[in-house]
Amino acid sequence: MQLTDKEFAWIVSYVHEKYGINLSQKRVLITGRLQNYLLRNGYQSYSEYFAKVERDPKGQEAINMINVLTTNHTYFMRESVHFDYMQKVALPWVKQYAASKKDVRVWSAAASTGEEPYAVAMLLKDYFGLDGSWNTQLLATDLSTRVLKHAMEGKYLLEQIMPLPDKWKKTYFQRISEEEYQVKDELRKQVVFRQFNLMDEIRFKGLFHIVFLRNVMIYFDDDTKIALLERIYDHMENGGYIFIGTTESIDKTATRFKYIQPSVYRKMK
Ligand SMILES: C[S@@+](CC[C@H](N)C(=O)[O-])C[C@H]1O[C@@H](n2cnc3c(N)ncnc32)[C@H](O)[C@@H]1O
Repeated sequence: MQLTDKEFAWIVSYVHEKYGINLSQKRVLITGRLQNYLLRNGYQSYSEYFAKVERDPKGQEAINMINVLTTNHTYFMRESVHFDYMQKVALPWVKQYAASKKDVRVWSAAASTGEEPYAVAMLLKDYFGLDGSWNTQLLATDLSTRVLKHAMEGKYLLEQIMPLPDKWKKTYFQRISEEEYQVKDELRKQVVFRQFNLMDEIRFKGLFHIVFLRNVMIYFDDDTKIALLERIYDHMENGGYIFIGTTESIDKTATRFKYIQPSVYRKMK
């Protein structure tokens, strides 16, 4: 099945406009991921499929398309510098700042298959204690419903959970087969998973103390990145921290966030 120049131009512009993702250099990725899907599902051409997606942008085919096209690579304790920073700097600040409400508000904004938000949940439990005096529930969102389903199930292979401290593995995982471990209910309940497109208006209640926005802006162009950061800024507490991927950067002159150290920024009014 051939992806014509016109079809390629259509998908690049559609995905950019709706999801912010820049696929203009990703022709091989598009065909590599979509071709099999189209063949398996009886489509004769890309145009036939794209017409169906366009007719119903919230429909199942549009959802399937984004599930196939997003890149969801992640792992437990990725970029552990952020977890150290949380423990040493950001959480001590939250503990003081939110002392009266005892409600820490964290958002994992490109949560993928759950490794990031679950590791954060374990860290929050560690830091604020298991007695429940603090509300340590966090929000975890992603565009892809496929990865969110995986995340909600919380099933991982032993080799995937290896990077976690032994204490966390013992406390929060149960073995469910020879190879697989599952996040225990008590921890799964700590993470509220929701489908959310980062291009949309943020309507979550309350302001966040800490936002993880890691390894997702690499797919966005500069204007999209800046507009997103501005929206997030308005939904953060003053003093709140945002972590981005360690290979990513923010144009310091273009946003209101204050640079703290590579990949760590802060809202300081
Ligand atoms: C590479 S993963 C990053 C996972 C994790 N934050 C980490 O650093 O390991 C990028 C995730 O961003 C999600 N994503 C891409 N575009 C998005 C959008 N417009 N809104 C929400 N999530 C998006 C993808 O579905 C994917 O799961």
